[in-house]
Amino acid sequence: MLLGYGLGAIPFGLILTRLAGLGDVRAIGSGNIGATNVLRTGRKGLAAATLVLDAAKGAAAVLIARWLWPDTDLARLAAIAAFLGHLYPVWLGFRGGKGVATLLGILAALAWPVALVFAAVWIAALLIARYSSVAGMAAAFSAPIAAAARGGIGEALLFLGFALLVLWRHRANLARLFAGTEPKVGAAKG
Ligand code: G3P
Repeated sequence: MLLGYGLGAIPFGLILTRLAGLGDVRAIGSGNIGATNVLRTGRKGLAAATLVLDAAKGAAAVLIARWLWPDTDLARLAAIAAFLGHLYPVWLGFRGGKGVATLLGILAALAWPVALVFAAVWIAALLIARYSSVAGMAAAFSAPIAAAARGGIGEALLFLGFALLVLWRHRANLARLFAGTEPKVGAAKG
C-alpha cells in the first residue's frame, strides 16, 4: 500500500510543467494538477504526457503488487492506495488531482474490458459535451456499471467507490457547470 500510495502521489502534471519552465500549474486555470489543466498552458504534448504518466502510475501500482504478491486483493489494495495517493499526495499538503487518468490506468491493469468502456465513454462524452469534467465523471460511473455487467459485484463496488471519489473531487467543476462558467476543452482559461 505504501508503494501504491508513493506511486500515486507523484504529481506528474506539476513536475512536467515545472521542468518545462511554465511555473506552478496550480496557479492557472482550475488550479488542478491534471492533464486538462496542463493543456491550459497551451502545451498539448505536456498534457498528453501528464495523461499517460498519471495513468501509468495507477497501472504500475497494480501490476507491481500483482507481481510481488499474486493475490487479487492485494492488487486492489494497491489500486486504492495509488488512487488516494493521486487525490491526496502528502507532499502537496494532500491537495492532489481529480483521479480520472489514474483511474483509467488502474482499470487497465485490474479489468481491461472495463477500462475500454471507461475510455469509450470518456471520449464520447468529451466529443459530445466538450467538458473534460463531465467526460471524466461519466467515464468514472461507467466503470461500476461495466463491472456489474461482467458479474463482478466486488469489483463493481470498488469501482463505485472510485467513481464517488472522482465526483467528490469535481465539486468545484460541478458548481461551475451549474453556474454556466465551466470552460470547455480548448478554452484558454478555467
Ligand atoms: O480530470 C480532471 C478533469 O475532469 C477536470 O479538470 O482542470 O477542468 O478541473 P479541470
